[in-house]
This record gives sequence, structure tokens and C-alpha cells, in this order.
Amino acid sequence: MEPTSEIAEVTLAEPFGADEIATAARFGICTAPRDPELCQFVANGRDLALVMPVAEGAMRLALQGRGADGHQRLRSIRRDDPLVKSVGRNRERGGNRYVIDATAGLCRDAMTLAVLGHRVVALERVPALALAAHWSVEHAGLSPRLELRTGEAVPILAALAAGDRPDVVYLDPMFGDGTDNERTAGTAGEARRRHGKNAPNRRAQVKKDLQICRRLAGPPTDTAELFAAARRTATERIVVKRHPDLEPIAPGVAFAVAGERVRFDVYLTAGSEA
Ligand SMILES: C[S@@+](CC[C@H](N)C(=O)[O-])C[C@H]1O[C@@H](n2cnc3c(N)ncnc32)[C@H](O)[C@@H]1O
Repeated sequence: MEPTSEIAEVTLAEPFGADEIATAARFGICTAPRDPELCQFVANGRDLALVMPVAEGAMRLALQGRGADGHQRLRSIRRDDPLVKSVGRNRERGGNRYVIDATAGLCRDAMTLAVLGHRVVALERVPALALAAHWSVEHAGLSPRLELRTGEAVPILAALAAGDRPDVVYLDPMFGDGTDNERTAGTAGEARRRHGKNAPNRRAQVKKDLQICRRLAGPPTDTAELFAAARRTATERIVVKRHPDLEPIAPGVAFAVAGERVRFDVYLTAGSEA
């Protein structure tokens, strides 16, 4: 499979139901005849998937129905998950925090936090990824605790009223230097220790998610601006997902939580406690 740096155009392959067509239109995604050479959303009965072009391996990401992430993965999430630990708990509100995930992608991380009770607003600027995430979140039954908004995160964060500022801003910019590749998914052994008998599937899923995000989103463009906006917005902390070999994106990390092939750098905002 030849890697490509172009951002793929994505359509809804006919036939689709009227409800799905209306939903896709809200995200700016239109319908087109099925074409295996294109990146398309496809439906077959209750199954709904995003399919990459044949020339790129025809990778299929199930969003609803057969093979979809969601219930099975979400049931296995534990409180000692490194992402969950890095976001922390607010004892005054039953442990839950209000988190803005400013780089939502496919909402895997946002769903991890929402399923444990956190209120999450997820921001994604690429319409096709936002639509894929919307269908995944719907399948997992996580709305309205997880609310997805389409758009550029920096102006959205800047426009928040004082009373709407989140406890935590979470950032998972793509590494953008070649490290956001399959290695980040970890080895089969590491995955098995963490996810038991579902490990090989889980590892393959992470690889697929990374490839699709990279293909549809392109490299990060405004990580420094995002971090600055997060600093102005978060009332308690900022959490940044990084490859373990890379330096933090900014100085001032209060502590880091090591995950499986990733690291979560935590920055505390003025007046907050670890
Ligand atoms: C590595 S992916 C995130 C994956 C995500 N954590 C998950 O669990 O699926 C990064 C995503 O952030 C989005 N993104 C990057 N910069 C953004 C910005 N300034 N505003 C909104 N979305 C942004 C990209 O389009 C891409 O989908």
C-alpha cells in the first residue's frame, strides 16, 4: 500500500436511508454512487462502516453493527486506564470532570472518558471524521454525556463563556513526525496484558484508527495555538497525549502517566491541585 499525503474526499455511498443522508448532510457529507476507488461510508442492513479505497487496502472501519467498536471495548475500560488516571477525578462531583477533547478524531478517547461518567465535549474539524465519530458515539449510546461539535478548536475554545470553561482540556494532536505509526499500537504481548483475550483485535483496531485519522486529517497544523488556547480555557488541567520518545509539546509538565506506547503529560492550571 502506497502512503499518500493527500486528504481523502469522503462521500456516502448509495443506497442509504433518508435519516442517515440527512445526518451526513449536517456534517457537509453528500451521497455518491458506490465506488471502491473512493473513501466512502457504506451501509448494509444494520452495518455501517467507513471503507478506504481498494488502492489503499480497502480497510473497513465498522462504526455500527457487525465488528463495531463500542460496547465490547467500552465494557473493558477500567479506572486505572492511563488516560483516565491523567484526567483525574473531582471528588466534589462524584469523581466526574467536565472535559473538552479538542482533537476528537474518531472519539475513542472521548468515549473512554464518557463511559466512566465524565461529561465530554469533543471537537473535530474534519467533517468525515466528525461524522464517523457521531455514528460511533450513537452506537455506543453515549450521547448526550458525550457531545460532538464540528469545527476548529482554537476559536471554539476562545469563544467559551466564563461559566462554560471545562475542568480539563485534552489534546491528542497527531505526532506529525512519523511516530504516529503502527508502533504506537503496541505489541501483541503488551495489549494482551491489558485487554486479555480481546487483545489482538484491540491492537488491530488501534492501528486502523491511527491510519484512518492520519489519512483523513493530515498532519497537525496548530498544536502550539491549541495548547495556548487550552491554557487559557482549562480551569484545572490540560492533558496531552504524546509518543514516549518525544519531548513534551510545552514546558511545565506537572506529572506524566505512562500508557501502553503513549504518554499522557499533565499540566496543572493556576490554582488547581494534582
Ligand atoms: C490523532 S487524532 C485524535 C484521535 C482521538 N484521540 C481518538 O481517540 O480517536 C487528531 C484529530 O484532531 C483533529 N484536530 C487537529 N487539530 C484540530 C483543531 N485545531 N481543531 C479541531 N480538530 C483538530 C484532527 O482532525 C484529527 O482528527
